[in-house]
Amino acid sequence: MLPPLEQIPAEIAAVADYERFAQERIAPGAWAYLNGGAGDEWTMAENVAAFARQPLRARVLRSMQGASTRINLLGCDLAAPILMAPTAFQTLAHPDGELASVLAAGATETCMVVSTQASIPLEDIAAAAHGPLWFQLYIQPDREFTERLVRRAEAAGYRALVVTVDAPVNGVRNVEARASFALPPNVRAVNLDGMRLPPPGDAGALLFGTPLLESAPDWADLDWLRKITRLPIVLKGIVDPDDARAALDAGADGLIVSNHGGRVLDGVPAAIDLLPGVADAVAGRVPVLMDGGVRRGIDVLRALALGADAVLVGRPFVHALATAGALGVAHAIRVLRAELELAMALTGCVNVAAIDRGVLI
Ligand code: FNR
Ligand code: LAC
Repeated sequence: MLPPLEQIPAEIAAVADYERFAQERIAPGAWAYLNGGAGDEWTMAENVAAFARQPLRARVLRSMQGASTRINLLGCDLAAPILMAPTAFQTLAHPDGELASVLAAGATETCMVVSTQASIPLEDIAAAAHGPLWFQLYIQPDREFTERLVRRAEAAGYRALVVTVDAPVNGVRNVEARASFALPPNVRAVNLDGMRLPPPGDAGALLFGTPLLESAPDWADLDWLRKITRLPIVLKGIVDPDDARAALDAGADGLIVSNHGGRVLDGVPAAIDLLPGVADAVAGRVPVLMDGGVRRGIDVLRALALGADAVLVGRPFVHALATAGALGVAHAIRVLRAELELAMALTGCVNVAAIDRGVLI
């Protein structure tokens, strides 16, 4: 395994360029976990491919005076509509893990969403932050433990809860052979230390009837969560317009259209193709974000054109982290932002509010 770089080489001109550099720095088992997807990885590939099917409409001679990418999202002032998606176990990618990512977030005024399964305690990440953080919550089989986790996130100053609902049995991946990779002894979900785990199911049980699936969260748990916290609740993994309406009824303050980067249900369409249906159902009542396959500034523009208020980026930032730690992540963020500014200039969009379906052909 090569060590992380201390400078960004000139060959890295786009965030996708980080992938090759990252693979040379991560052990094969960890790489398969970090970079892979579910099933045949069709959804994972579609997430990227579908962006290319949204051709852009170039416009000329529009004034760009006072141009800006700034947004305000659930009370957070952000330099651009690009957030860091929650990704688990970042010390698998780089020894500094989440602490490097949060440094990059602070240096670039970017909101980082910290995973329940972070490999550094949520309090330590918050202590190193210089900007808004959101906490990604997996509702655990042990609801009392879950409530304590929420209290810890509140006390540490996290500004929103991102409740991931598309991986009800977060562990379902273990059913798949590829995910049978075991974490190295020094990497674990430290935020879950001390949690009671449900007993293993009957020998021979697959998924149905196992205590893990029996204790998976449902809509009633969202009512419960809504009652126990005043933090904004953003549901991550909403792809269906009916579920989007149910989420609003359940009091969600925001939605993230996401298929988990193609890591959960293979066969789901690309996130960008699912976005318009959800955005139409929400009709501006709460912010709608999306993630999955964002690799270029033009992809951010396309997502905003199709109804997103902001996007999140997963794997490319993990790759940048593995390649060059905080420096790599900050560089990757700046590359995406520079591409977005250029894309806005060339489509004549002076600010984020000006980006609508009219930028697509
Ligand atoms: C993830 N994702 C994820 N999502 C979540 O809600 N909680 C988590 O702990 C994780 N962990 C995680 C680990 C790794 C290694 C990856 C690649 C992804 C999903 C993530 O937040 C996001 O939805 C996707 O990564 C977006 O797709 P792209 O940008 O990777 O194509
Ligand atoms: C994953 C889980 C942790 O995608 O969300 O690996």
